Amino acid sequence: MSRDPLPAFYDDLDASLAELWRLLADGVGRNGSAFHTPALATVDGAGRPRLRTVVLRAADSAAGTLRFHCDRRSDKAREIGRAPLCALQGYDAAAKVQIRVEGEATLHTDDAIADAAWAAAQAMSRVAYGGEPGPGTALPSGDAYVLPDPEAAVTLGRPNFCAVGVRATRLDFLYLDRRGHRRAGWRRDGAVWTGSWLAP
Ligand SMILES: Cc1cc2nc3c(=O)[nH]c(=O)nc-3n(C[C@H](O)[C@H](O)[C@H](O)COP(=O)(O)O)c2cc1C
Repeated sequence: MSRDPLPAFYDDLDASLAELWRLLADGVGRNGSAFHTPALATVDGAGRPRLRTVVLRAADSAAGTLRFHCDRRSDKAREIGRAPLCALQGYDAAAKVQIRVEGEATLHTDDAIADAAWAAAQAMSRVAYGGEPGPGTALPSGDAYVLPDPEAAVTLGRPNFCAVGVRATRLDFLYLDRRGHRRAGWRRDGAVWTGSWLAP
């Protein structure tokens, strides 16, 4: 049996919700965090699930929103444009916490949100958005694509850049512990989150 003290959120539903958002916010800022690079699920036009890693760029507990960035030429942008439902998932093996977020995604390409995200993006990140051809295009060889230099990427990449806002509607928190796992879920009703413990 583990002798570690139980975490403060162990049997506290509100503290578990706070811990969920704390871990997501920590993931935004910390490269090594599991929640820095969650899996993002979308649904394609045939109803097939699609999954890939993205970098979490913002997590706002008060608004219940997240943000990541992608290329507007990518499958994920196309899929969100068609069916704006998505899910994000991460598991932090050190914290023994899995977080799942389901929500509504909005593509920001030509508005103030996209402009601010592009302005804050690092030069290295911008380069990928200026690449040709676009993500997922079949290539005759592995190196048959070009990337602009960082200076040119500022203008070449911007038209392809997309900030994606996710308005969370369902949250799921799972903490693993030999003394008894704890799982909790919340649903949004307007600005209010209603949660309950769930059988793990
Ligand atoms: C660690 C890591 C971080 C990534 N971050 C992003 C990201 O923030 N945005 C993005 O569009 N793709 C990101 N990717 C690439 C995607 O996982 C994926 O391969 C690519 O975007 C194509 O996905 P799609 O065809 O489903 O659109 C990342 C991949 C890895 C391994």
